[in-house]
Amino acid sequence: MLLLMRVVLLSALCAAALGCPTIITRSQWGARPPRSRVPLKTPVPYVIIHHTVGNRCFNLASCSREVKGIQNYHMDSNRWPDIGYNFLIGEDGRVYEGRGWSTVGAHAKNWNHKSLGFSFLGNFSNRPPNAAALNAAQSLIQCAVKRGFLRRSYTLKGHRNVNPTSCPGNALYGVISRWPRFKA
Ligand SMILES: *[C@@H]1O[C@H](CO)[C@@H](O)[C@H](O)[C@H]1NC(C)=O
Ligand SMILES: [Zn+2]
Repeated sequence: MLLLMRVVLLSALCAAALGCPTIITRSQWGARPPRSRVPLKTPVPYVIIHHTVGNRCFNLASCSREVKGIQNYHMDSNRWPDIGYNFLIGEDGRVYEGRGWSTVGAHAKNWNHKSLGFSFLGNFSNRPPNAAALNAAQSLIQCAVKRGFLRRSYTLKGHRNVNPTSCPGNALYGVISRWPRFKA
């Protein structure tokens, strides 16, 4: 019993040391299988931040529902092979796996093959995401570096820095533009 507790504690400490947030896998949120996938050459040099301009969500059930709706829209209306983003971030403080670490996304034209696309669930034009979501995103960036999917010398950008769009919203853009390694 004591040994088991130590093992559980140690693995929790290791996960924290790796800087990885809680990631809800595709099977956990009930993803459809992708129609196809193109391998991403990692570590990539860029992280690109988005917002989904859909609903905000604050728990596992509602965030999972939101992510499923986005996947359906991307696959059925846009006719993409899968949900566009590599990961999505909820105001429940959880990260939801999209295409994941090693598949090319569909989130930023001309930049997909050299970046990871992280998208906050909600519309962040007028107000930023809560602290739980912001912390999860920063932890996800550190996790990407430590796991070797993102270069140590990475550059952080907002979607609007690479394509003509207002994404990720003025309020969220204001926050990420003060984060480490941001360059417009
Ligand atoms: C996002 O919020 C802004 C500000 O409230 C609003 O003008 C815009 O229409 C919203 N976008 C969508 C797609 O709902
Ligand atoms: Zn975007």
